[in-house]
Amino acid sequence: MADEVLSQFQQAKAEEKIDTSRKIKVGIIGTGWIAESHIQSYNAMPDVEVVAMCDLIPGKAEAFKEKWNVPGEVHFYPNHKEMLDNEQLDCVSVCTYNATHAECTIYALEKGVNVLLEKPMCVTLDEAAEIVKAEKKSGKVLSIGFQPRFDANMQQIKKIVESGVLGEIYYIQTGGGRRRGIPNSTFIEKRTAGIGALGDIGCYSLDMVLNAIGYPTPKTVSAYKSAFFGTSTEYQSEKDAARFNVDDFAAAFIRLEPGQFGDKDGIILDFRIAWAMHVDTPGDTIIFGKKGALRIPSTDCWNGSVGGPMKIYHDVAGQRVETVIPIIQNKGQGLFYKKVRSFLDASMNGGAAPVPSSQIIKNQAILDGIVKSAEAGKEIEIVMPEV
Ligand SMILES: NC(=O)c1ccc[n+]([C@@H]2O[C@H](COP(=O)([O-])OP(=O)(O)OC[C@H]3O[C@@H](n4cnc5c(N)ncnc54)[C@H](O)[C@@H]3O)[C@@H](O)[C@H]2O)c1
Repeated sequence: MADEVLSQFQQAKAEEKIDTSRKIKVGIIGTGWIAESHIQSYNAMPDVEVVAMCDLIPGKAEAFKEKWNVPGEVHFYPNHKEMLDNEQLDCVSVCTYNATHAECTIYALEKGVNVLLEKPMCVTLDEAAEIVKAEKKSGKVLSIGFQPRFDANMQQIKKIVESGVLGEIYYIQTGGGRRRGIPNSTFIEKRTAGIGALGDIGCYSLDMVLNAIGYPTPKTVSAYKSAFFGTSTEYQSEKDAARFNVDDFAAAFIRLEPGQFGDKDGIILDFRIAWAMHVDTPGDTIIFGKKGALRIPSTDCWNGSVGGPMKIYHDVAGQRVETVIPIIQNKGQGLFYKKVRSFLDASMNGGAAPVPSSQIIKNQAILDGIVKSAEAGKEIEIVMPEV
């Protein structure tokens, strides 16, 4: 997955106009795999100084600076608290595993620092509510790291829905997954990841369609989750199977509040996600509208990208026709760079968060609802917290 994700990243182009009269002081919390895409972006920005890094694993942040040739003096710390207590930072990237997203983000906001928080927002809805409260109290920018938002093909989905060509939307099936693609390291234990495929890739499928329809609030969810592959020594090493205690597959039926594109009953979301299964895909994403349907091909990896040209199925003058939407080549910087740059620009110029928590808390509410419904074995109501 690393190459596929990171190949979307490109270095800064010389023609980009950046004001270098003031350097933005940045810190990195957690110097693992995804922090690599953040540091490559920061290294390419002439108005950024990465001045501090921390990681719970001794020596990891120091080795990270060496590996990525980070220029200038960098101060190293053993955890987020020590870093934030001792540094005057403008912005931080929270690149820790999911289980520490909330504590790192809340502490940074309390210290008056803008936060770019990796996806998923956190593990539970309660944590998400605490994050939003801290954000509101701080008046700082919090943006969630969904780089697919900057993909022109993803943006096209929203434009198609908003154009009205599909008419009123009443049902959406979304999700995806891999025949075999369970990550290991910190992704497979509740202690570090909190949730499995749901948080790793499920949040992308939800964001793709919820963003297109204006993020209506979820009302109820009936869900199922399992971990057959992750816990089996047939598909995993003995060591990984023994420590695997998150989901590797989840499916859910979600009712959304009536929104901009729904009828009076609200849109139904039919969701499936898999890190492993005995089939190549649990299906493409399809947005069903009263005038047309949009099919968005899935990918082998499913990390929030479009797998091929999309198609609109509709009737023209009594004939059933299909309109192919060609793949759009993204222009300019890579998606990871755009994600970081848009966050810095909002932070330094007083703009709105590019991927706001007001939307992503609803994504988290669905993930949380899926876990709770699956564990209860019945449909549950999703109660959005007051924040
Ligand atoms: N946007 C993307 O495309 C993308 C891709 C992969 C992963 N991610 C997300 O990035 C996050 C990290 O994933 P990863 O693969 O880099 O994990 P990782 O385990 O490689 O790295 C996480 C690091 O954070 C450190 N850490 C945890 N809590 C800390 C704390 N309180 N203070 C300092 N350091 C702390 C850990 O020691 C570890 O080194 C996850 O939430 C994941 O979902 C996003």
